[in-house]
Amino acid sequence: LQRSQVDQALSTLKLTQKHLEWVKSSMRAGLEAGLKTRGPSPVKMLPAYVYHTPDGTEHGQYLALDLGGTNFRVLLVKINSGLRRSVRLYTKIYTIPLELFDHIVQCISDFLDYMGLKNARLPLGFTFSFPCYQTAIDTGTLVSWTKGFKATNCQGHDVVDMLRDAIKRRNEFDLDIVAIVNDTVGTMMSCAYEDQQCEIGLIAGTGSNVCYMEELSNIQKLHQGEEESNQGRTEEDETEHAANNKWGGLGDDGCLDDIITPYDKAVDGESLNLGKQRFEKMTSGLYLGEIVRHVLLDLTRRGLLFRGHVTEALKTPGIFHTKYLSQIESDRLALLQVRSILQQMGLDSTSNDSIIVKEVCGAVSRRAAQMCGAGMAAVVDKIRENRGLDHLDVTVGVDGTLYKLHPHFSVVLQDTVRALAPGCQVTFTLSEEGSGKGAALITAVARRGTARS
Ligand code: BG6
Ligand code: GLC
Repeated sequence: LQRSQVDQALSTLKLTQKHLEWVKSSMRAGLEAGLKTRGPSPVKMLPAYVYHTPDGTEHGQYLALDLGGTNFRVLLVKINSGLRRSVRLYTKIYTIPLELFDHIVQCISDFLDYMGLKNARLPLGFTFSFPCYQTAIDTGTLVSWTKGFKATNCQGHDVVDMLRDAIKRRNEFDLDIVAIVNDTVGTMMSCAYEDQQCEIGLIAGTGSNVCYMEELSNIQKLHQGEEESNQGRTEEDETEHAANNKWGGLGDDGCLDDIITPYDKAVDGESLNLGKQRFEKMTSGLYLGEIVRHVLLDLTRRGLLFRGHVTEALKTPGIFHTKYLSQIESDRLALLQVRSILQQMGLDSTSNDSIIVKEVCGAVSRRAAQMCGAGMAAVVDKIRENRGLDHLDVTVGVDGTLYKLHPHFSVVLQDTVRALAPGCQVTFTLSEEGSGKGAALITAVARRGTARS
């Protein structure tokens, strides 16, 4: 009886082929709607004002900031073009501040001291991984915080202005802020520097998002009286434009309700952005552990786990870090080791408990990977159809701790894309150096654009 009740709970997390096709077609509809309007659409398609991937002629020394994932990084990126084409990175990691912009400027100051570059007035590319409305490459209004992030007086304000003001307040050094970049776009550009077929950027980390090179003519809202910047554009190449999809918002209009479980509802209910980013809350690192915890809570309350003891630990939000999920699901781990991981979280388990916990983790992360795969299938088919092709070869540049550390996530994701987009041969390439390199490349391209215009 216990077994069938556990199976019944787990079955709510299982997606059928039909469900996955539904996710794919909903994502496709979301992409199309996002392209047409600036108005309320769950999948936003935020234009990134990046018109082409790098071509190897980028050159110079750039500062980059990378804020919005697990780490906040300040980087110096040295790019050489020509025969000795190379990119060298110097990085320092800082803690993520609450008093956001003054703290960021303090970190830049520390970094410039460390590199001996206080007087250089370097061009800066800012990877800022939150949804922003851009009207040019160097402006971006923060739409809303996501991923549990919160700093006061930022929503609705221009991120570049806030950074410039904070630099002025400190009055110690100057910078030329050239580009604001989403991490998906930075990741795509990083990978595209090595591989010309890379036209998509995917983040499966704390949050979840995708960007791709869309036909400029399809981004109708760019032609709806919005001001356009010429930075980064050259005369001959204005056919494509990087669109940051904000795909995490899929489902905010209820289109995923059929597959949303009571566990997902509980996670949403505890979040800072209630009712928002429903797809992200089912697929990304910040939330998967919480979904698992809510399933375990339910099973325990029903007397099916942990001898029916709902402990304080189990009631504590955030105990189930994604790193535990990844460890528990490792095939190399013996049950005794699973029990010892649970012990670290304050959960006393029997062998039977540990088997069930492992199954729960597997069901939650498999569903996440399949949903990302279904979303990606919609993106690659869209690109293929844009070009009127029967077959498309394309590379996806990927980053994020979930993709990198989880033992099965990437395999399930890729299998799902293969099954749902048979007309596309999709290669996934891990970004080795984060998105800071991409931000510097975008800065280099944008500078070249202004130099020419
Ligand atoms: C990093 C990128 O490597 O990955 C960031 O440099 C990105 O720009 C991050 O936000 C995403 O992964 P996570 O798991 O840290 O959220
Ligand atoms: C969140 C952010 C988005 C970012 C993603 C991955 O969804 O809103 O901008 O790209 O996380 O970090």
